[in-house]
Amino acid sequence: MENELLNIKNNAMSLILDTNDSEQLEEIKLQFLGRSGVLTQAMKELPKIDPEKRKEVGMLANEVKITIENAISDKEQQLKHTNVRIRLEKIDVTNPGIRPPLGHLHLITQAISEITTIFERIGFTRVRYPEVEWDWYAFEALNFPKDHPARDDWETFFIDTEPNKKFGPMLLTPHTSSGQIREMQDNKPPIKILNLTKCYRRQSDVSHVPMFHQFEGLAIDTNLSIVNLKGVLDYFVKSYFGEKRNARIRPYHFEFTEPSFEVDVSCGVCSGRGCKLCKEGWLEMGGAGMVHPNVLKNTGIDPNKYNGFAFGWGVERVLMMKEGIEIDDLRLLYSNKLEFLEQF
Ligand code: DAH
Repeated sequence: MENELLNIKNNAMSLILDTNDSEQLEEIKLQFLGRSGVLTQAMKELPKIDPEKRKEVGMLANEVKITIENAISDKEQQLKHTNVRIRLEKIDVTNPGIRPPLGHLHLITQAISEITTIFERIGFTRVRYPEVEWDWYAFEALNFPKDHPARDDWETFFIDTEPNKKFGPMLLTPHTSSGQIREMQDNKPPIKILNLTKCYRRQSDVSHVPMFHQFEGLAIDTNLSIVNLKGVLDYFVKSYFGEKRNARIRPYHFEFTEPSFEVDVSCGVCSGRGCKLCKEGWLEMGGAGMVHPNVLKNTGIDPNKYNGFAFGWGVERVLMMKEGIEIDDLRLLYSNKLEFLEQF
């Protein structure tokens, strides 16, 4: 038995020493130490040995086992280091490296920061008000009649929850005008803010997306007039679209402004002469007007002392109208298609 054990040890040691391959080493391990390995089988014979010699042979068997185990783990370490060295030797450090792909801000994020900067230059502070709103802020306090179609399920996303006793149903704000109410309710005039946030409407086609962005200007002070409003619009149009573009205001109707206007910008393609894109030289941008006295009253501001103007435009829309950028389908903006986004 002792001789058998010594033979096993010698065989194992020479095999381990000779190999330079991790898979082969794994096989050797199984061959000797595995369940049906040579050494394991030999050790099963121990109980059969006569009791006087059993202890001694047992100790020898253990010693052989430990020696083989140590030799295998030493070899494993050694092979690991050589593998790393071989891999390192294959790297040619003089080769040019691989540049990681560098992204850029999303088209809309770029537009938002450009618009914000333009208004900050003339003293408008950027604010953001909740996207999840109450009917009171989005409609009621803005002077909307109870049966106005914008309140309809088909225009506005309502949230399926218990209406608030004071503020009515919960909804996703369909426009940034709700921010006017929040601003005026919490702050005293003079007020000069730009509320730029996401808005939501039940719409989806080539020129509409259910989630879009608006920016809303609000200025409240004593003695503001349409001249101030037109000055701000002119300034924005020239700064954002370029010196050659002009703004014009047309009478219109909104519940929360009186008088109200629709704002147009001269077409960048035909410079206002009229073309296929604009028909008559002007592109429609969004609304504006002098804040309605009822809106001031609803937020606790005295309409006999203060007045002001407001305007609200879509970020996606102004971006599309900017010269040089034409997007056939607005939904592409939010489709996460890199082929599209990488162009800008
Ligand atoms: N909230 C209006 C909309 O989403 C846009 C608007 C019109 C905003 C007139 C204004 C305004 O501030 O004065 O269609």
